[in-house]
Amino acid sequence: MKVLVIGSGGREHTIAWKLKKSKKIDKIYCAPGNAGISKIAKCVNIKADNIKSLVDFAQRNKIGLTIVGPEAPLASGIVDEFYKRKLKIFGPTKDAAQLESSKVFSKEFMRKYHIPTAPFTTFKTYAEAVGFCKTAQFPLVIKADGLAAGKGVIIVKSFDEATKALEDIMLNKIFGDAGDKVLIESFMVGQEVSIMAIADGKTIIPLLPSQDHKQAYEGDKGPNTGGMGAYCPTDFVTKEIMTAIHDHVLMPTINGLTQEGISYRGVLYAGLMLTETGPKVLEYNCRFGDPETQAVLPLLKTDLVDLMFASINQNLASAPKLSWKQGSAACIIMASKGYPGKYAKGIQINGLQDFKEDNCFVFHAGTSFKENKIVTSGGRVVGITGIDSNLKDALNRAYRGVSKVRFNGATFRKDIGFRVLQKQKG
Ligand code: GLY
Repeated sequence: MKVLVIGSGGREHTIAWKLKKSKKIDKIYCAPGNAGISKIAKCVNIKADNIKSLVDFAQRNKIGLTIVGPEAPLASGIVDEFYKRKLKIFGPTKDAAQLESSKVFSKEFMRKYHIPTAPFTTFKTYAEAVGFCKTAQFPLVIKADGLAAGKGVIIVKSFDEATKALEDIMLNKIFGDAGDKVLIESFMVGQEVSIMAIADGKTIIPLLPSQDHKQAYEGDKGPNTGGMGAYCPTDFVTKEIMTAIHDHVLMPTINGLTQEGISYRGVLYAGLMLTETGPKVLEYNCRFGDPETQAVLPLLKTDLVDLMFASINQNLASAPKLSWKQGSAACIIMASKGYPGKYAKGIQINGLQDFKEDNCFVFHAGTSFKENKIVTSGGRVVGITGIDSNLKDALNRAYRGVSKVRFNGATFRKDIGFRVLQKQKG
């Protein structure tokens, strides 16, 4: 069977890498892909948001399964277009993807179906939002309603910080139309975890829990990024907590959507805060997380193709239990200097062609070719994943891999997994 992966990041490289292990796959295409993906798949020069060309490509090339990496094409209805042409695609429809594409939709949905989340208020004007902040208790969380590449959530500790964030989002439109509406919600304290789960509209099967590191600098300081590193599994999520997440978050989400006339098929990602009063939803994503995928999929033994078809064909309930490698995986993101702000592109990367480190994998994100050399082409450049019997050794492997990949201005966090390592030290 031929498959098509849509996207060009580390997540898509990891998905293609995992698909490559399936005996059911003869050929992998990726649109548009990156330098690393081109080693295992045929990269096709179609952008992830060019839905018409992607559907035409899939039909012309008899693609048996398409997998959508990023959120934007899902929010624009790529799955609906594939369905119209009777093409198999793994991911939620446009209606279902509103859980990620509109934070107002998702919070109102959670309120309606009693899914635990922080209290919130929605604002359509800057004046009303600022008025609310005048008498509010800080810290607060301000969220742009629409998609903002993981950067639309701002934690504010004072009225001045709140005014600045609201000005940026609602008046200066730094996230464009995504800032037409904002949510202001209470700040939750606890451990943050990412649960990615495969759903078929009736059943939902969680993958192993992982933890992302969203801030740019060590100690979770600095601006939010798309994610600077992740590890899997996280021991904060006990069996009991996992059951609570399944029963109080994942199933009510799928069932609530069904009541709204929406059958959710694809990956449902719940970003959760483990609070003293139980797990609460910070946000939903309608796709695999990045960089969580780079830490989770390398541990999955089950064939991803089987899992994706079980989601599409709505028979997850009878799918075999997921099978996992023992141990831990950790992914360290190497980013361009200046990310998540402005950064240069086209910088030569050394150490990739002859990269060899046992149980260590380089997943390309912002890379491309220039005169036969691999160069940087994005903010997050590569993710390096190490696997070992425990987190500390997995991290050591990943950091050894990081030391072998070099480009001018490369930055990375040296403290991925620090919460667990600190706890282990006591
Ligand atoms: N790592 C967060 C995300 O994928 O949105």
